[in-house]
Formats: sequence, structure tokens, C-alpha cells
Amino acid sequence: MVRCFRWQTVLEQPGLAARSEAQPPRLVELSSENLLVVQNLKVYFSQDAGFLRFARKPSLKVVDDVSFSLPQQRTLGIVGESGCGKSTIAGALAGLKPVTSGEIQFAGSNYTYVIERRNREALRGLQMVFQNPDSSLNPRHTVEEVLRRPLRCFKIVAREKERDHIISLLNAVQLDESYLERRSSQLSGGEKQRVSIARAFAGGPQLVLCDEPISSLDVSVQAAVLNLLQKLQREHNVALLFISHDLNIVRYLSDEVAVVYLGKVCEIGPTEAIFNPPYHPYTEALVSAIPVINSKGEMKAIRLEGSVPGPANPPSGCLFHTRCPRKVGTICETQEPPAQNGGDGHTIYCHIPLEELREMQTVKAVVVQ
Ligand SMILES: Nc1ncnc2c1ncn2[C@@H]1O[C@H](COP(=O)(O)OP(=O)(O)OP(=O)(O)O)[C@@H](O)[C@H]1O
Ligand SMILES: [Mg+2]
Repeated sequence: MVRCFRWQTVLEQPGLAARSEAQPPRLVELSSENLLVVQNLKVYFSQDAGFLRFARKPSLKVVDDVSFSLPQQRTLGIVGESGCGKSTIAGALAGLKPVTSGEIQFAGSNYTYVIERRNREALRGLQMVFQNPDSSLNPRHTVEEVLRRPLRCFKIVAREKERDHIISLLNAVQLDESYLERRSSQLSGGEKQRVSIARAFAGGPQLVLCDEPISSLDVSVQAAVLNLLQKLQREHNVALLFISHDLNIVRYLSDEVAVVYLGKVCEIGPTEAIFNPPYHPYTEALVSAIPVINSKGEMKAIRLEGSVPGPANPPSGCLFHTRCPRKVGTICETQEPPAQNGGDGHTIYCHIPLEELREMQTVKAVVVQ
């Protein structure tokens, strides 16, 4: 049931059918040139406290050998369980977490350095929307001050035109002039996140890192903020790196998806490839847990046994072997899985050959209604 006077008009809109099947939207005139290239990124933290923190080499492998690239104007989704290192990847890209080794190339420049060592132009190109807007907005600043800062810092408009520009930024996130004098304590969660998004887009970035930007919002506001992000992405021609543990949202938004388990990428590729067999057994479990409405048949949810290992004590061989329902034997416990190429940039890190995976997942995935 839909409470709406315009339901028939809405149904007749072209493209709605495809959207309702959660097809990821494609942007027109995509550039194939890579904006962001991450190679063998490692972010290790120290397990020690106090002085030993500086004396010993960091050994907590929170992000371990992660590589991916992101073309201009495209969206890469990063999914994985809580604690798998998603925010640490975003933090390293934004220069908020020091990189242990590896390389981050952004728009042809080296971004492997922490934020203090990045110049103004480098800061402008890459902006971030944080998971919790409460901690990312200065409570002492009004909305106008929050949005004026990037305009001044990156010299976006002349001072006399600042106020008009700030109002147009607010309008772009569907807030009006009346919000200018408010502080963050006078805003709802959704409004705070809109201001954060306006701030991220204020400086004219090429890439916006979105670290679970909607997870603290209720469902109706989530949809509004997601639509807003997509609209701004189209209007400003920016690329998005969208982090979430909600596979449905990632599927809807992303052109490509990277599935991360315990600090390593276990599967990466175009969205359609990720959501169809062959899957990495971990992706298979995540996909099987997506609730399906009105389908003819649905995948049986795979319940992963065992506790989630932490980066302090990672399993040997394949990191997923302690919980993998498709474990084949000691090879999984002793040897790191090879990268198997599924074509079109789709890579699965698993010991089971892709054809075998496809066969067992196609047969076992379909369950009687
Ligand atoms: N500065 C730090 N020192 C030590 N360990 C850290 C540090 N920062 C993060 N960690 C650890 O790194 C792991 C990954 O943290 P991260 O915040 O990247 O996870 P996440 O995937 O974003 O999780 P969530 O979905 O809950 O936000 C966690 O086990 C966390 O305890
Ligand atoms: Mg996080």
C-alpha cells in the first residue's frame, strides 16, 4: 500500500522498473581514466600501549595488501563486516591514518602522505563524509561558518559572493536560508549529514569518500540522503568511494564493489559480477543474507559458523577458512588463496576453481519457495 495521490504517475515514469529491481544506476559519458589507484596498501597499528607503542614495529594488520582503482565519476562500494578495516582504508586515503606501506595515487599525484603533508590543492580534490556527523561538525560553528571554511580555504568565490554561494550549497542539499545561523546542536541527524555533504562538495572535489554516511540515519532519511548524494555526484561529476555494510545499498549505488574480510580484499569487480555466481564464499554468505521480497525463489541464508577473528590473531592461509562453509582442506589453512580472474576486472581470491564455485553456487543457491 502506498499513501500517495500520484502513484499512477509515478509508476508510469520510465526507468522505474529497472530501479525497483535494484539495478545500479549508470552514469552517462563515463571516463575510463583512473582517478584513484591504490596499490598494496598496508596500514598496521601497534598492539602495545605506552612507550612500547613507539619502540616496537606495528604488527596489527588492519589493512593488508589492498589494491583497487577508481575511474573518474564512478562509484566504488566497499563492503565488509564491522572491524574489517573499511574506515581505516578511507582514513588512509584521506590522510588521517598513516600508511605503513603501499601507494596511493590520486589524479596523478602521490597521496601516500598524511594530511599535514598534503598541499591545499591535494586537500581540495579529495573530501570525506564521515559516519557520525556529530563528531565531524564543530558544535561552536554555525552552518554558515562550517560552509564558509572550505570556500575561503580553497578560494572558491570572492568574499562578497560567499553568502549567496553558501545559500546555493544549502539549497543543493535541500535546506534553506533559515539554517544559516543554526549550530549543529540545533539540527536533526539527517540535517547534520546534509550539511556535512554540502561541506564535502563545497570545494569542488574530484572524489568524495563516504564512510557509512547514512548508517546513523533512519530509513526514510537514508533514502533522501542517498538520492542527494547521487544527484550531487551527477551534477559535480565526482567519483564516490562508498563504504557500507549494507549490500543492497552498495548494489544500488556502485559501479564496482570490493568485498573486504579482515583487512584484505577477497573479491572485487563490476557490481553485476559480484552479485552473480561465481561468488567468493564470503560474498556468497553476505548475498544470501539479503532479504528478498516477491521473488520466485530465494537463496537460502548461509549462517557463518565460528567467531569473527580479529587482526591481532589472523588465521593462517586463507583468512576466511575458519568460517568458510566451502573449505576444501588443509590447502585453505596453509596457503594464501590465489587471485582468480573472472574476466572484466572480476577477481576472486579462493582456492576453489571459479567453474567449480559457479557450479556449486548455481545448484545450491536456489531453494524451493
Ligand atoms: N588506531 C588504532 N590502533 C589500533 N587498532 C585500531 C586503530 N584503529 C582501528 N583499529 C582496529 O582496526 C580494526 C578495523 O577498524 P575500522 O574502524 O577500520 O573498521 P570498520 O570496518 O570501519 O568497522 P565498522 O563497520 O564497525 O565501522 C578494528 O579491529 C579496530 O579495533
Ligand atoms: Mg567504520
